Amino acid sequence: MQQTLIHNIKTIFGIIQNSSTKIKRGAEMAVLESLDNAWILIENGNIKGFGSENSKPEINNQCKLIDANQGYVIPAFVDSHTHIVFAKSREEEFVMRIKGKSYEEIAEAGGGILNSAKRLQEMSEDELFAQAMHRLNEVIKFGTGAIEIKSGYGLTVDDELKMLRVIKRISNESPITVKATFLGAHAFPTKYKQNRQGYINEIIHVMLPQIAEQQLATYMDVFCDKGFFSVEETEQLLIAAKLYGLKPKIHGNELGYTGGVQVAVKHHAISVDHLEYTGNEEIECLLNSETIPVALPNCSFFLGIPYAPLRKMIDAGLPVCLASDYNPGSSPNGRMGFVISLACTQMKLTPEEAINAATINAAAALELSDTHGSITVGKVGNVIITEAMPSLAYLPYRFGNNTIAKVIINGSEIK
Ligand code: NIG
Ligand code: FE
Repeated sequence: MQQTLIHNIKTIFGIIQNSSTKIKRGAEMAVLESLDNAWILIENGNIKGFGSENSKPEINNQCKLIDANQGYVIPAFVDSHTHIVFAKSREEEFVMRIKGKSYEEIAEAGGGILNSAKRLQEMSEDELFAQAMHRLNEVIKFGTGAIEIKSGYGLTVDDELKMLRVIKRISNESPITVKATFLGAHAFPTKYKQNRQGYINEIIHVMLPQIAEQQLATYMDVFCDKGFFSVEETEQLLIAAKLYGLKPKIHGNELGYTGGVQVAVKHHAISVDHLEYTGNEEIECLLNSETIPVALPNCSFFLGIPYAPLRKMIDAGLPVCLASDYNPGSSPNGRMGFVISLACTQMKLTPEEAINAATINAAAALELSDTHGSITVGKVGNVIITEAMPSLAYLPYRFGNNTIAKVIINGSEIK
């Protein structure tokens, strides 16, 4: 029996006693349950118990002791939306945007996703794996304790399968839970620009059967937006994906009021992500659904586009989730701590709301509510220990700084 005792904790935040709480909606998001002067015991990788310093738990003599040095403990982050398998950075497009070009103009001229696809097609599976694993290990050190990774820079049968095999290998070798999403419908490859249905047929009749047969993905994503996939095209793809057992997670409403939210809800998507263009109609639609809205503030920060109106969404009673969108085009940074700071400064979430959005609600967006996202007996022992700090608000307040002292995954400290 492998035991780890974290002691001398100033406060544990993010406790959920009742394991039937899977997600926090609206006003519930303002509350982050806590316990002062505490310890947490992790046994065989899972949380065995927690309590006050005056009630010491039973430990064996091999128990690893971790001194929190009066720091706080919060659940490790869940990053429910990333594209960390990619071949090359795209800082030349960053400079083009500084000089006035828009994300859409760059994409139309063959840059953007197509640029990343060309690079990825040229790179070996081993090299892609090594680079993505490096990125993953880096974000784990910054507190990510479960992650979703999308394909979508292959855009040919062979290269989409190659990306998904890389994600599977990462999942096998990583200490954290990895969920794979098939995003073949990320952009139309140049050779299909005049024959969009040809590419959709290739996804439906060639890619999906092989992905299902080789069990390479849990979810199917479509970039349903202006200049990318239309609502009708998205529907065709989601209907086909369902036949192969892949559940929808949609990129929607990043570039306009394009119906992405409505199509996601209609097809019972697990989540709809981006949402920079979300009005009353979209909010109403989400309120009558189980689809989780996910915001990606790094993308707004980096591309200079509007932020999703999360304050309005929470006030309307919705549960909201935050993710990094780590990718070379719109978010070359996967640190969840920075995402939380942006949510506070730009979207007016309180620190408690932002942490709930990146932990318990993020776990729900990956269907990991039973195992991740809170300090609950029986969940995995993935926690962040902060430096000693004056209050919880100090965490997002110190934006861009690393105030995390230790990251514990399955009860072991990540070095
Ligand atoms: O989530 N918007 C679509 N996809 C990615 C960016 C892809 C890229 O530019 O490489 C996103 O922002
Ligand atoms: Fe994305």
